[in-house]
Amino acid sequence: MNATIRAVVRTALFNGLEVSGIRRGYTGMINGDIYPMDARSVSGIIGRGGTILHTARCPEFMEYQGRAAAHAQLAKAGIDGLVAIGGDGTFRGAYQFTKEFDIPVMGVTGTIDNDVMGTDYTVGFDTAVNIALEAIDRIRDTAASHDRIFFIETMGRSSGFIALWSGLAGGAEAIFIPEVREDFEKYARDIFEGRKKGKTSAIVVVAEGEEAGGAFTIAERFKAITGLDYRVTILGHIQRGGAPTAFDRILGTRSGVKAVEALIDGRRNEMVGVQNMEMRCTSFSEVWDKKKDPDLDWLKIANMMSI
Ligand code: F6P
Repeated sequence: MNATIRAVVRTALFNGLEVSGIRRGYTGMINGDIYPMDARSVSGIIGRGGTILHTARCPEFMEYQGRAAAHAQLAKAGIDGLVAIGGDGTFRGAYQFTKEFDIPVMGVTGTIDNDVMGTDYTVGFDTAVNIALEAIDRIRDTAASHDRIFFIETMGRSSGFIALWSGLAGGAEAIFIPEVREDFEKYARDIFEGRKKGKTSAIVVVAEGEEAGGAFTIAERFKAITGLDYRVTILGHIQRGGAPTAFDRILGTRSGVKAVEALIDGRRNEMVGVQNMEMRCTSFSEVWDKKKDPDLDWLKIANMMSI
């Protein structure tokens, strides 16, 4: 997100515009927490995780009164165009806001979940996958040394992208994601049988939104079938922190540049995304029209790789 903020500020200034930051998203808009930014106010942030503008969930913005208050604050601060960074909920709010108050908004993704249509990758996803992967690699050392099964739970809300990518890259023996109903017994038996083939340890990656339950629940089901001892690691919020990868820094930068250029070109109510490495704009309504699912063939690949 910081790479995006830096790019928005500097692209705006480069084009002779004034630019302000709004702290804590829609909450800051309602409270008038708006301050002028210059080129130096975004110095040294491209490699920092999180967001210097802070972020907040804002139920008030779901009500007309909240949006009206936000609009009054924007008018007071002389703001006539907005770049909103977030996910689906952010864009839905922005869409409603622009319909009621006629202010152009461009959206840029800022979510690790990668579950947004109109972009191949959301800003933050690559970093989260690499953090999860590093954890899997580290845990595998213990799994291998102690001949154990580990269940590792990744974030992603109701989406399995992080689990699938980190699991495939980490050589997981099984990956469970919300998009697919799996036969747990089969996987448990495979892991048990694997012992006879000299496979003495296993890593199972579970997405937090997996319908059958979290990593602990699935681990217990495996134990009931195999009798094997296990350990569980919930990766949690470590996936949302730390220095962003080069990929995310570049995607955030390109997205911020594109969002400001689009506003200058008179575009509005669209989300900036990357498609086949090209920056593209997609109307907000198309963004939530369909759910973006991961490529489920990857599960077959993971299965094939784990024999
Ligand atoms: O949507 C991003 C995300 O990190 C999800 O992957 C996760 O389920 C959720 O946010 C966690 O939210 P919070 O920090 O509010 O607990």
